Amino acid sequence: MTVPLISPSLLSADFARLGEEVRAIDAAGADWIHVDVMDGHFVPNLTIGPMVVKALRPHTAKPFDVHLMISPVDAYVEAFAAAGADIITVHPEAGPHVHRTVQLIRSLGKQAGISLNPATPAKMLDYLIDEIDLVLVMSVNPGFGGQSFITSQLRKIEAVRKMIDKTGRPIRLEVDGGVDAVTAPQCVAAGADVLVAGTATFRGGPERYAANIAALKGLG
Ligand code: DX5
Ligand code: ZN
Repeated sequence: MTVPLISPSLLSADFARLGEEVRAIDAAGADWIHVDVMDGHFVPNLTIGPMVVKALRPHTAKPFDVHLMISPVDAYVEAFAAAGADIITVHPEAGPHVHRTVQLIRSLGKQAGISLNPATPAKMLDYLIDEIDLVLVMSVNPGFGGQSFITSQLRKIEAVRKMIDKTGRPIRLEVDGGVDAVTAPQCVAAGADVLVAGTATFRGGPERYAANIAALKGLG
């Protein structure tokens, strides 16, 4: 079975020591660093902005996988690109014109991702898939870490995998929410190749990070 890339979500890190946490997950085998940006409007929580991404940039050379849960989103894309994001993922519902947002992200030389909420159908990708680098299937409703995996999303992962394979392009298929050592292999079997994990990476403290990441990769 494919060994997935692991993108730990900083939402479960110690926010008083974010730089150290980024270095610790880098050393523990994280492939990407997942940054959840929430605006208290598109989702009912507030997290961090581009200043924090910029401050963290010197702490790792791993790609910053920036998940924007903000609406309207366009006005912030350039700031996150300048702060050091490598992949910028947006929700189609964050508006006003998601195709234009994708064009904007790519015009800045960054990879563009589209995130599908649990109730958003895979069909939403029909007129976007040829323009994007990543699909992020949300397996929880966005806003908080530590929620339970919504099993119905496995069908969506399978559907998106088919759509991606049809393009013949190397589009990444990432899953976010409730991913742990039990649900990770289910996501990979359904076709995912990148897994976001907050709780399951950071549980147990820094001495557990390497074992937690290995377990998520199915190597534990
Ligand atoms: C939820 C975020 C996720 C979340 C994952 O809105 O997009 O990245 O932090 O957390 P866990 O892995 O704890 O479900
Ligand atoms: Zn996320």
